[in-house]
Amino acid sequence: MSVRRLAEASVQPASFAFNRANEAWAKQTIKKYPKGREQSAVIPLLMRAQEQDGWVTKAAIEHVADMLEMPYIRVLEVATFYTQFQLKPVGTRAHIQVCGTTPCMLRGSEALMDVCKRKIHPEQFHVNEAGTLSWEEVECLGACVNAPMIMVFKDTYEDLTPERFEEMIDAFEAGGVDAVEPGPQVDRFFSAPMTGFTALVDEKSVLKSGRNDAKASAKAKEGPVAPSKSAKPKTDAPETNPAIKSPSRAKVSPAKEAAASVKAPRENGVAADKAEPTVEKADRQRKHSGKPKEAKSAFHAPETLHGEPIGADRKRLSGKAKAGGDKAQPLLSDKNRPSGIEKPAAVDDLKLISGVGPKIEGILHSLGIYTYAQVASWKKAEREWVDGYLRFHGRIEREDWIKQAKALAKGGEAEYIRVFGKTPR
Ligand code: FES
Repeated sequence: MSVRRLAEASVQPASFAFNRANEAWAKQTIKKYPKGREQSAVIPLLMRAQEQDGWVTKAAIEHVADMLEMPYIRVLEVATFYTQFQLKPVGTRAHIQVCGTTPCMLRGSEALMDVCKRKIHPEQFHVNEAGTLSWEEVECLGACVNAPMIMVFKDTYEDLTPERFEEMIDAFEAGGVDAVEPGPQVDRFFSAPMTGFTALVDEKSVLKSGRNDAKASAKAKEGPVAPSKSAKPKTDAPETNPAIKSPSRAKVSPAKEAAASVKAPRENGVAADKAEPTVEKADRQRKHSGKPKEAKSAFHAPETLHGEPIGADRKRLSGKAKAGGDKAQPLLSDKNRPSGIEKPAAVDDLKLISGVGPKIEGILHSLGIYTYAQVASWKKAEREWVDGYLRFHGRIEREDWIKQAKALAKGGEAEYIRVFGKTPR
């Protein structure tokens, strides 16, 4: 375990404040705890501060302590104890945590750290020249069976070799953390034996779908599932629709309920979570949920919107849905849609705007938005149009994309740092 100290004063910002959305979230989080026990919110608040600025600053520690009426030293103790808190600026594209505990060490983690030293920086907790990558050695991350492994932000990458790790670092540098699928980096199904299942292979009830080794390897070819999603059931039953915030009060017939609960996880040979949602599917989901047709459809949830071909969605939002479609679909007039351009030779990295991830960047591209200057030029109506299109409920204004884009358009990352006092990410 390395010594964990706050970053030197020269890189510490003078102050810290949660942005408006995080401030509201923090107040709600504190309220979850009984009176007199509000200090229990210290870890989530520090995590949110880190997600906002990329690392935990001294000012953030003091701000959280003030919010929770705790002595600064108590919050400092928490922040310096847990390696999940970064106490110095980290790479804007990826901060790589290499497990160096015994199982990973025996399986080659030292060679992985040599790769970090060569490709990122000879010392941990230092960013590379471009400021995009950094690394550190950490204790066991709980995936020893797939040793050696690393963690980047919230995802783990396992069964690594130095060669594969070098490729991954190049990919992180080029495309950020989403450029590499998390999970085992070899042909292996999660933490199943490398040679396939060795026990209970005939037990259909145990292996659920009766998957044998051949099917397991076919599944592995579909690509690994992010650990954070691995326990989610593969079903399109309305109860699992993330757009439905609370159980529906509408009555559902037992037959429909039964049909929904035994829905096969695959449709037409395509994994359900990979299949493109369709208008028909949305209608079916709505019927299952028992909502009347004119009620706001779950089809508008951001997840569904983003998972759907943009063209189809734009059609609906413009009120040109298929014949016989929803009468009460909220319409988003094209009048205020920002004008798009053909993809230029040099495309700006819109992900540097805080609040824009790879998915949102892809949607902006589909709207013909490729440059900071385009975003910087949005008027209020255009900003609201995009906000409505993304179902962001005012997030673009809260995160001040326009100001961020103006700074990036004017002077790139240097200007952004001058204006906001932190690196863009
Ligand atoms: S020893 Fe590396 S994950 Fe446990």
